[in-house]
Amino acid sequence: MWGVKVVKKVHILGSGGREHAIGWAFKRCGFDVHYYPGNAGTLRDGTNHPFEGPNTISGICDEGIIIPGAEKYLVDGIGNLCRNVFGPVREVARLEGSKVYAKRFMKKYSIPTGRFEVAETPEELVHKLRDFAAPYVIKADGLASGKGVIIERDFSKAVEKGSMLIEGKLLRGVKGPVVIDEFLAGEELTAIAIVNGEDFSILPFVRDYKRLGDNDMGPNTGGMGAWGPVMIQEETMMRIEELFRRTLWAVKKEGGNYRGFLYLGLMIVEGSPYVLEYNVRLGDPETEVIVALNPEGFVESVLKAVNGEKITSMKPQLFAVDVVIASKGYPEAPMKGQKVAVPEEGFYFFAGVEKRNGEMVVSGGRVVHAMGTGYTKEEAKEKAYLWADAVEFDGKYYRSDIAK
Ligand code: AMP
Ligand code: GLY
Repeated sequence: MWGVKVVKKVHILGSGGREHAIGWAFKRCGFDVHYYPGNAGTLRDGTNHPFEGPNTISGICDEGIIIPGAEKYLVDGIGNLCRNVFGPVREVARLEGSKVYAKRFMKKYSIPTGRFEVAETPEELVHKLRDFAAPYVIKADGLASGKGVIIERDFSKAVEKGSMLIEGKLLRGVKGPVVIDEFLAGEELTAIAIVNGEDFSILPFVRDYKRLGDNDMGPNTGGMGAWGPVMIQEETMMRIEELFRRTLWAVKKEGGNYRGFLYLGLMIVEGSPYVLEYNVRLGDPETEVIVALNPEGFVESVLKAVNGEKITSMKPQLFAVDVVIASKGYPEAPMKGQKVAVPEEGFYFFAGVEKRNGEMVVSGGRVVHAMGTGYTKEEAKEKAYLWADAVEFDGKYYRSDIAK
């Protein structure tokens, strides 16, 4: 790959279920798997190492593949440090790192997205917001861990929250310009592609469940479960392919080159897809489902892309269901420190767990993903719930309607 020595070694940056799942797939394909930092569960499939920023990366620049899980690494410029990082350089990662940049990029290249304005001050916000209709959508420019979007029906509340966002009083560590976005009503869909610099291949579609409670009630979370593959109409698929094609062409026009995973957050409005957001990485929990559908196919597609070869499209061979087991109090203030037990034979991807005195304990809100696969969705769901029921820790919580 780009002159890098080819060894069957993969380095995965991050500590969640997505990262565990990527490593699990590579291990099945005979790779030596390393996590930075990983978690107590990733030890089942690889070796954990501390992550200490650029120093850690420079130590692994010349061997194997480096896959950043979360966006932060790429937005911070990990992709600029070595050639074996499978992900875009900092300049291209602005597609996720800056909403202002992403919206201007889409406008410039006629990529369908909602009408928008940028506001840098509360005064500008009031003034520009008057040109929009309720519900009002206001977005933080920079990374905000999925919390940077305000959707508000009431004009004065929208102004109040938006102003707080600009002044850094709404979210810790987030301040500055905001995007006022046109509200789009439709059906949400995520499309993720593997990109090799020239060419791309769309991964199987996955439905995820963002709300905490059954029947999509309660607060938004990082995701409470997912299933796939979801079938998409041929017509919609062709339009989505066109969005990827245009985006990658536009990246080139801007002087960049895309290599890695490209995630489109879409709203399908009367059959036409609009881009709500770009992400420059895989999704979580989408990844857990995608790799379970066909781990060897996933790895093969990534390796082709890494080598700049024509990417074989990854065909799902099964159905897969992911039920997230969270800790009581999630997403606000999850309970931590409880001992976690799972049956040895179960199928799990671990997230918020750490080792303490030789035991696995809860260290985050989403603790473990209980996985099920099968030749039908029904079978996959039953297995996922079998493994979900078998997880033991105090304050265990999960939705009962994933894939139902
Ligand atoms: P984003 O991080 O931009 O994907 O926004 C997070 C969520 O907010 C999306 O998944 C949508 O549910 C919602 N959202 C964002 N932008 C819009 C929009 N322009 N119209 C309607 N809903 C939106
Ligand atoms: N599942 C949503 C995300 O990874 O952004």
